[in-house]
Amino acid sequence: MSDALRARVVNEFHTRFGAAPEFVARAPGRVNLIGDHTDYNDGFVLPMAIDRAVWIAFRSRTDGEVVVHSLDFGDVAEFDVQGELSHSTGWQEYVRGVAWALADAGSTLHGWEGVAAGDVPLGAGLSSSAALELATARVFASASSVPWAAPRMALLAQRAENRWVGVNCGIMDQLISAAGVAGHALLIDCRSLATRAVVVPHDAAVVVLDTATRRGLVDSEYNERRERCEAAARYFGVKALRDVDDTMFNARADGLDDVTRRRARHVIGENLRTRLAAAALERGDVKTVGRLMDESHASLRDDFAVSRRELDVMVTIAREHDGCYGARMTGAGFGGCAVALVRRDAADAFARDTAQRYERAVGLVPAVYVCAASAGASVEPA
Ligand code: GLA
Repeated sequence: MSDALRARVVNEFHTRFGAAPEFVARAPGRVNLIGDHTDYNDGFVLPMAIDRAVWIAFRSRTDGEVVVHSLDFGDVAEFDVQGELSHSTGWQEYVRGVAWALADAGSTLHGWEGVAAGDVPLGAGLSSSAALELATARVFASASSVPWAAPRMALLAQRAENRWVGVNCGIMDQLISAAGVAGHALLIDCRSLATRAVVVPHDAAVVVLDTATRRGLVDSEYNERRERCEAAARYFGVKALRDVDDTMFNARADGLDDVTRRRARHVIGENLRTRLAAAALERGDVKTVGRLMDESHASLRDDFAVSRRELDVMVTIAREHDGCYGARMTGAGFGGCAVALVRRDAADAFARDTAQRYERAVGLVPAVYVCAASAGASVEPA
Protein backbone atom coordinates (compact mmCIF):
# COMPACT_ATOMS: atom_id res chain seq x y z
CA MET A 1 0.00 0.00 0.00
CA SER A 2 2.63 2.51 1.09
CA ASP A 3 4.95 1.91 -1.87
CA ALA A 4 2.03 2.34 -4.23
CA LEU A 5 1.08 5.66 -2.62
CA ARG A 6 4.65 6.89 -2.76
CA ALA A 7 4.82 6.03 -6.48
CA ARG A 8 1.47 7.74 -7.02
CA VAL A 9 2.49 11.11 -5.57
CA VAL A 10 5.79 10.99 -7.50
CA ASN A 11 4.00 10.23 -10.79
CA GLU A 12 1.35 12.86 -10.23
CA PHE A 13 4.04 15.39 -9.47
CA HIS A 14 5.54 14.67 -12.92
CA THR A 15 2.16 15.11 -14.55
CA ARG A 16 1.33 18.39 -12.79
CA PHE A 17 4.69 20.11 -12.68
CA GLY A 18 6.40 18.60 -15.76
CA ALA A 19 9.51 17.57 -13.83
CA ALA A 20 10.62 15.12 -11.15
CA PRO A 21 10.09 16.02 -7.47
CA GLU A 22 13.22 16.39 -5.34
CA PHE A 23 11.99 14.66 -2.19
CA VAL A 24 9.14 12.66 -0.72
CA ALA A 25 7.96 13.28 2.86
CA ARG A 26 5.86 10.79 4.80
CA ALA A 27 4.12 10.94 8.19
CA PRO A 28 2.03 8.14 9.72
CA GLY A 29 -1.33 7.96 11.48
CA ARG A 30 -1.48 6.26 14.87
CA VAL A 31 -3.41 3.94 17.11
CA ASN A 32 -3.26 4.29 20.87
CA LEU A 33 -2.81 0.98 22.73
CA ILE A 34 -3.73 2.50 26.09
CA GLY A 35 -3.81 5.91 27.81
CA ASP A 36 -6.73 7.97 26.53
CA HIS A 37 -7.70 11.43 27.74
CA THR A 38 -4.47 11.48 29.74
CA ASP A 39 -2.26 13.56 27.41
CA TYR A 40 -3.88 16.92 28.20
CA ASN A 41 -3.58 16.03 31.89
CA ASP A 42 0.23 15.86 31.58
CA GLY A 43 -0.07 12.07 31.86
CA PHE A 44 1.05 8.94 30.02
CA VAL A 45 0.06 7.41 26.66
CA LEU A 46 1.20 4.30 24.76
CA PRO A 47 0.48 4.82 21.06
CA MET A 48 2.17 3.35 18.00
CA ALA A 49 2.54 4.84 14.54
CA ILE A 50 0.76 2.66 11.96
CA ASP A 51 1.61 1.61 8.42
CA ARG A 52 -0.82 4.15 6.96
CA ALA A 53 0.44 7.61 6.20
CA VAL A 54 0.28 10.89 4.31
CA TRP A 55 2.85 11.23 1.52
CA ILE A 56 3.97 14.47 -0.14
CA ALA A 57 6.25 14.57 -3.22
CA PHE A 58 7.74 18.06 -3.53
CA ARG A 59 10.45 20.40 -4.75
CA SER A 60 11.43 23.64 -3.08
CA ARG A 61 11.07 27.12 -4.59
CA THR A 62 13.20 30.17 -4.15
CA ASP A 63 10.21 32.45 -3.46
CA GLY A 64 7.52 32.07 -0.80
CA GLU A 65 4.82 30.49 -2.95
CA VAL A 66 3.33 27.18 -1.77
CA VAL A 67 1.35 25.14 -4.29
CA VAL A 68 0.09 21.77 -3.12
CA HIS A 69 -2.33 19.42 -4.84
CA SER A 70 -4.29 17.02 -2.66
CA LEU A 71 -5.22 13.86 -4.58
CA ASP A 72 -7.58 12.81 -1.77
CA PHE A 73 -9.59 16.03 -1.87
CA GLY A 74 -9.19 16.92 -5.58
CA ASP A 75 -8.17 20.39 -4.49
CA VAL A 76 -5.17 22.69 -4.64
CA ALA A 77 -3.84 25.00 -1.91
CA GLU A 78 -1.94 28.11 -3.01
CA PHE A 79 -0.56 30.74 -0.66
CA ASP A 80 2.47 32.92 -0.09
CA VAL A 81 4.23 31.84 3.05
CA GLN A 82 6.21 35.07 3.20
CA GLY A 83 3.05 37.19 3.12
CA GLU A 84 0.10 37.50 5.51
CA LEU A 85 -1.42 34.01 5.89
CA SER A 86 -5.18 33.78 5.63
CA HIS A 87 -7.58 31.07 6.72
CA SER A 88 -9.16 28.55 4.38
CA THR A 89 -11.23 25.42 5.07
CA GLY A 90 -10.84 21.64 5.41
CA TRP A 91 -7.48 19.96 4.75
CA GLN A 92 -5.85 23.27 3.72
CA GLU A 93 -6.15 24.55 7.26
CA TYR A 94 -3.66 21.95 8.49
CA VAL A 95 -1.13 22.94 5.83
CA ARG A 96 -1.57 26.65 6.46
CA GLY A 97 -1.64 26.15 10.22
CA VAL A 98 1.74 24.41 10.21
CA ALA A 99 3.20 27.22 8.06
CA TRP A 100 1.77 29.76 10.51
CA ALA A 101 3.17 27.94 13.57
CA LEU A 102 6.64 27.58 12.05
CA ALA A 103 6.76 31.23 10.96
CA ASP A 104 5.36 32.38 14.29
CA ALA A 105 8.15 30.47 16.05
CA GLY A 106 10.69 32.51 14.08
CA SER A 107 11.56 30.35 11.06
CA THR A 108 12.04 32.06 7.70
CA LEU A 109 10.09 29.84 5.35
CA HIS A 110 10.56 29.15 1.65
CA GLY A 111 7.80 28.01 -0.67
CA TRP A 112 7.49 24.64 -2.37
CA GLU A 113 5.28 22.79 -4.79
CA GLY A 114 3.98 19.34 -4.11
CA VAL A 115 1.44 16.57 -4.47
CA ALA A 116 -0.11 14.95 -1.37
CA ALA A 117 -2.07 11.72 -0.84
CA GLY A 118 -2.73 9.47 2.13
CA ASP A 119 -4.30 6.21 3.24
CA VAL A 120 -5.13 7.07 6.87
CA PRO A 121 -8.94 6.87 6.92
CA LEU A 122 -10.43 10.31 7.56
CA GLY A 123 -12.34 11.02 10.74
CA ALA A 124 -11.88 7.47 12.05
CA GLY A 125 -9.75 8.44 15.06
CA LEU A 126 -6.46 7.30 13.49
CA SER A 127 -5.04 10.84 13.37
CA SER A 128 -5.16 11.62 9.67
CA SER A 129 -4.86 15.31 10.58
CA ALA A 130 -1.71 14.83 12.67
CA ALA A 131 -0.26 12.82 9.75
CA LEU A 132 -0.98 15.70 7.36
CA GLU A 133 0.47 18.23 9.82
CA LEU A 134 3.69 16.31 10.35
CA ALA A 135 4.17 15.51 6.65
CA THR A 136 3.71 19.23 5.96
CA ALA A 137 6.17 20.13 8.74
CA ARG A 138 8.70 17.71 7.21
CA VAL A 139 8.34 19.44 3.83
CA PHE A 140 8.72 22.95 5.25
CA ALA A 141 11.69 21.90 7.37
CA SER A 142 13.40 20.42 4.34
CA ALA A 143 12.54 23.28 1.94
CA SER A 144 13.56 25.95 4.46
CA SER A 145 16.50 24.19 6.16
CA VAL A 146 14.80 24.17 9.57
CA PRO A 147 16.49 21.52 11.76
CA TRP A 148 14.22 18.57 12.50
CA ALA A 149 13.68 17.78 16.17
CA ALA A 150 10.64 15.52 16.64
CA PRO A 151 9.34 16.94 19.96
CA ARG A 152 9.66 20.55 18.80
CA MET A 153 7.92 19.80 15.51
CA ALA A 154 5.17 17.91 17.33
CA LEU A 155 4.62 20.92 19.62
CA LEU A 156 4.44 23.27 16.65
CA ALA A 157 1.96 21.00 14.87
CA GLN A 158 -0.13 20.81 18.05
CA ARG A 159 -0.02 24.59 18.26
CA ALA A 160 -1.22 24.78 14.65
CA GLU A 161 -4.16 22.56 15.59
CA ASN A 162 -4.93 24.44 18.85
CA ARG A 163 -4.47 27.98 17.64
CA TRP A 164 -5.00 27.93 13.86
CA VAL A 165 -7.50 25.11 13.33
CA GLY A 166 -9.13 25.66 16.76
CA VAL A 167 -9.13 22.10 18.14
CA ASN A 168 -7.92 21.88 21.72
CA CYS A 169 -6.09 18.52 21.38
CA GLY A 170 -3.19 17.24 23.48
CA ILE A 171 0.27 16.25 22.24
CA MET A 172 -0.13 12.49 21.69
CA ASP A 173 -1.10 12.35 18.01
CA GLN A 174 1.52 14.81 16.78
CA LEU A 175 4.32 13.34 18.88
CA ILE A 176 3.76 9.74 17.83
CA SER A 177 3.49 10.76 14.17
CA ALA A 178 6.77 12.67 14.53
CA ALA A 179 8.70 10.19 16.67
CA GLY A 180 7.29 6.68 16.06
CA VAL A 181 9.74 3.77 16.02
CA ALA A 182 9.25 0.78 13.68
CA GLY A 183 8.22 -2.37 15.53
CA HIS A 184 7.56 -0.43 18.75
CA ALA A 185 4.92 1.47 20.67
CA LEU A 186 6.09 4.60 22.51
CA LEU A 187 5.46 5.26 26.17
CA ILE A 188 5.19 9.05 26.20
CA ASP A 189 5.38 11.21 29.28
CA CYS A 190 3.19 14.07 28.09
CA ARG A 191 4.69 16.47 30.64
CA SER A 192 8.39 16.07 29.84
CA LEU A 193 7.79 14.69 26.31
CA ALA A 194 10.28 11.94 27.11
CA THR A 195 9.59 8.80 25.09
CA ARG A 196 10.51 5.18 25.65
CA ALA A 197 10.25 2.72 22.77
CA VAL A 198 8.55 -0.51 23.86
CA VAL A 199 8.81 -3.44 21.47
CA VAL A 200 5.56 -5.00 20.28
CA PRO A 201 6.19 -8.75 20.81
CA HIS A 202 6.48 -10.55 17.47
CA ASP A 203 3.85 -13.13 18.45
CA ALA A 204 1.23 -10.41 19.07
CA ALA A 205 -0.71 -8.36 16.51
CA VAL A 206 -2.41 -5.00 16.91
CA VAL A 207 -5.76 -4.94 15.15
CA VAL A 208 -7.74 -1.75 14.57
CA LEU A 209 -11.51 -2.20 14.42
CA ASP A 210 -13.33 0.75 12.88
CA THR A 211 -16.98 0.66 13.95
CA ALA A 212 -18.00 2.82 10.95
CA THR A 213 -19.63 5.27 13.37
CA ARG A 214 -18.68 8.95 13.49
CA ARG A 215 -19.84 11.68 15.81
CA GLY A 216 -20.09 15.30 14.87
CA LEU A 217 -19.99 16.79 18.35
CA VAL A 218 -16.55 15.44 19.23
CA ASP A 219 -14.99 18.87 19.64
CA SER A 220 -17.46 20.27 22.13
CA GLU A 221 -17.61 17.02 24.14
CA TYR A 222 -13.81 16.81 24.08
CA ASN A 223 -13.39 20.37 25.31
CA GLU A 224 -15.97 19.78 28.04
CA ARG A 225 -14.04 16.73 29.33
CA ARG A 226 -10.86 18.73 29.25
CA GLU A 227 -12.33 21.61 31.24
CA ARG A 228 -13.64 19.21 33.88
CA CYS A 229 -10.21 17.65 34.28
CA GLU A 230 -8.72 21.12 34.70
CA ALA A 231 -11.35 21.96 37.30
CA ALA A 232 -10.51 18.75 39.19
CA ALA A 233 -6.79 19.62 39.13
CA ARG A 234 -7.61 23.06 40.59
CA TYR A 235 -9.66 21.41 43.31
CA PHE A 236 -6.72 19.21 44.31
CA GLY A 237 -4.41 22.25 44.11
CA VAL A 238 -2.07 20.71 41.51
CA LYS A 239 -0.92 21.72 38.03
CA ALA A 240 -2.57 18.75 36.33
CA LEU A 241 -4.31 15.49 37.26
CA ARG A 242 -1.00 13.76 36.58
CA ASP A 243 0.01 15.01 40.02
CA VAL A 244 -2.84 13.28 41.86
CA ASP A 245 -2.22 9.71 43.03
CA ASP A 246 -4.63 7.19 44.51
CA THR A 247 -3.96 8.24 48.09
CA MET A 248 -4.64 11.93 47.46
CA PHE A 249 -7.70 11.04 45.39
CA ASN A 250 -9.19 8.74 48.02
CA ALA A 251 -8.57 11.24 50.80
CA ARG A 252 -10.25 14.19 49.08
CA ALA A 253 -12.46 13.04 46.19
CA ASP A 254 -15.62 13.25 48.30
CA GLY A 255 -15.60 17.02 47.96
CA LEU A 256 -16.05 16.80 44.18
CA ASP A 257 -19.39 16.55 42.43
CA ASP A 258 -20.14 13.05 41.12
CA VAL A 259 -19.36 13.73 37.43
CA THR A 260 -16.06 15.52 38.05
CA ARG A 261 -15.03 12.81 40.52
CA ARG A 262 -15.59 10.09 37.90
CA ARG A 263 -13.71 11.99 35.21
CA ALA A 264 -10.75 12.46 37.54
CA ARG A 265 -10.87 8.82 38.64
CA HIS A 266 -10.56 7.73 35.01
CA VAL A 267 -7.50 9.88 34.38
CA ILE A 268 -5.72 8.82 37.57
CA GLY A 269 -6.40 5.11 36.96
CA GLU A 270 -5.52 5.36 33.26
CA ASN A 271 -2.13 6.90 33.99
CA LEU A 272 -1.30 3.95 36.22
CA ARG A 273 -2.66 1.38 33.76
CA THR A 274 -0.62 2.89 30.95
CA ARG A 275 2.67 2.63 32.83
CA LEU A 276 1.82 -0.92 33.93
CA ALA A 277 0.91 -1.86 30.35
CA ALA A 278 4.23 -0.51 29.00
CA ALA A 279 6.14 -2.55 31.57
CA ALA A 280 4.09 -5.66 30.79
CA LEU A 281 4.57 -5.24 27.04
CA GLU A 282 8.30 -4.85 27.59
CA ARG A 283 8.49 -8.25 29.28
CA GLY A 284 6.23 -9.85 26.67
CA ASP A 285 3.35 -10.30 29.11
CA VAL A 286 0.57 -9.76 26.58
CA LYS A 287 -2.09 -11.22 28.86
CA THR A 288 -1.55 -8.45 31.39
CA VAL A 289 -1.56 -5.83 28.64
CA GLY A 290 -4.87 -7.26 27.44
CA ARG A 291 -6.39 -7.15 30.91
CA LEU A 292 -5.33 -3.53 31.35
CA MET A 293 -6.86 -2.68 27.96
CA ASP A 294 -10.15 -4.22 29.11
CA GLU A 295 -10.06 -2.16 32.30
CA SER A 296 -9.26 0.96 30.31
CA HIS A 297 -12.36 0.44 28.20
CA ALA A 298 -14.59 0.04 31.24
CA SER A 299 -13.19 3.24 32.72
CA LEU A 300 -13.63 5.23 29.49
CA ARG A 301 -17.18 3.92 29.20
CA ASP A 302 -18.35 4.23 32.81
CA ASP A 303 -16.30 7.05 34.33
CA PHE A 304 -15.24 9.20 31.39
CA ALA A 305 -18.40 8.51 29.33
CA VAL A 306 -16.82 8.74 25.89
CA SER A 307 -17.76 5.32 24.49
CA ARG A 308 -20.95 4.48 22.61
CA ARG A 309 -22.99 1.36 21.99
CA GLU A 310 -21.23 0.34 18.77
CA LEU A 311 -17.80 0.62 20.40
CA ASP A 312 -19.01 -1.45 23.36
CA VAL A 313 -20.45 -4.11 21.04
CA MET A 314 -17.23 -4.24 19.00
CA VAL A 315 -15.10 -4.63 22.12
CA THR A 316 -17.37 -7.35 23.55
CA ILE A 317 -17.32 -9.34 20.30
CA ALA A 318 -13.56 -8.94 19.94
CA ARG A 319 -12.92 -10.29 23.43
CA GLU A 320 -15.06 -13.35 22.80
CA HIS A 321 -12.54 -14.53 20.21
CA ASP A 322 -10.01 -17.10 21.44
CA GLY A 323 -7.05 -15.23 20.03
CA CYS A 324 -7.85 -11.91 21.73
CA TYR A 325 -5.87 -10.75 24.78
CA GLY A 326 -7.83 -7.54 25.27
CA ALA A 327 -9.72 -4.78 23.47
CA ARG A 328 -10.77 -1.20 24.09
CA MET A 329 -12.03 1.91 22.36
CA THR A 330 -9.12 4.08 21.27
CA GLY A 331 -8.60 7.82 20.78
CA ALA A 332 -11.06 10.54 21.70
CA GLY A 333 -14.10 8.21 21.53
CA PHE A 334 -17.75 9.03 20.70
CA GLY A 335 -17.30 6.87 17.57
CA GLY A 336 -14.46 5.63 15.40
CA CYS A 337 -12.18 2.76 16.32
CA ALA A 338 -11.47 0.10 18.88
CA VAL A 339 -8.09 -1.61 19.15
CA ALA A 340 -7.41 -5.23 20.04
CA LEU A 341 -4.25 -7.08 20.99
CA VAL A 342 -4.40 -10.59 19.54
CA ARG A 343 -2.27 -13.67 18.99
CA ARG A 344 -0.41 -13.12 15.74
CA ASP A 345 -1.22 -16.55 14.34
CA ALA A 346 -4.91 -15.87 14.98
CA ALA A 347 -4.98 -12.30 13.64
CA ASP A 348 -6.49 -12.99 10.22
CA ALA A 349 -9.22 -15.26 11.56
CA PHE A 350 -9.87 -12.76 14.38
CA ALA A 351 -10.23 -9.90 11.90
CA ARG A 352 -12.62 -11.86 9.67
CA ASP A 353 -14.78 -13.29 12.46
CA THR A 354 -15.01 -10.06 14.45
CA ALA A 355 -15.99 -8.07 11.35
CA GLN A 356 -18.70 -10.58 10.43
CA ARG A 357 -20.16 -10.75 13.92
CA TYR A 358 -20.13 -6.96 14.32
CA GLU A 359 -21.92 -6.49 11.03
CA ARG A 360 -24.59 -9.00 12.03
CA ALA A 361 -25.04 -7.37 15.44
CA VAL A 362 -25.05 -3.71 14.43
CA GLY A 363 -25.86 -3.63 10.72
CA LEU A 364 -22.81 -1.52 9.82
CA VAL A 365 -19.84 -2.74 7.78
CA PRO A 366 -16.67 -2.24 9.84
CA ALA A 367 -13.16 -1.74 8.50
CA VAL A 368 -10.48 -3.91 10.10
CA TYR A 369 -6.73 -3.31 9.87
CA VAL A 370 -3.99 -5.58 11.16
CA CYS A 371 -1.37 -2.86 11.80
CA ALA A 372 2.41 -2.87 11.78
CA ALA A 373 4.17 -0.38 14.07
CA SER A 374 6.01 2.00 11.78
CA ALA A 375 8.57 4.78 11.98
CA GLY A 376 7.65 8.44 12.48
CA ALA A 377 7.80 11.26 9.93
CA SER A 378 10.62 11.02 7.39
CA VAL A 379 11.87 12.65 4.23
CA GLU A 380 14.03 11.12 1.51
CA PRO A 381 15.15 11.88 -2.03
CA ALA A 382 12.48 11.07 -4.61
C1 GLA B 1 -7.58 12.92 20.45
C2 GLA B 1 -6.60 14.05 20.77
C3 GLA B 1 -5.44 13.54 21.61
C4 GLA B 1 -5.93 12.77 22.83
C5 GLA B 1 -6.98 11.74 22.44
C6 GLA B 1 -7.60 11.06 23.62
O1 GLA B 1 -6.96 11.98 19.63
O2 GLA B 1 -6.11 14.61 19.57
O3 GLA B 1 -4.61 14.62 21.99
O4 GLA B 1 -6.41 13.64 23.81
O5 GLA B 1 -8.01 12.31 21.66
O6 GLA B 1 -6.66 10.30 24.28
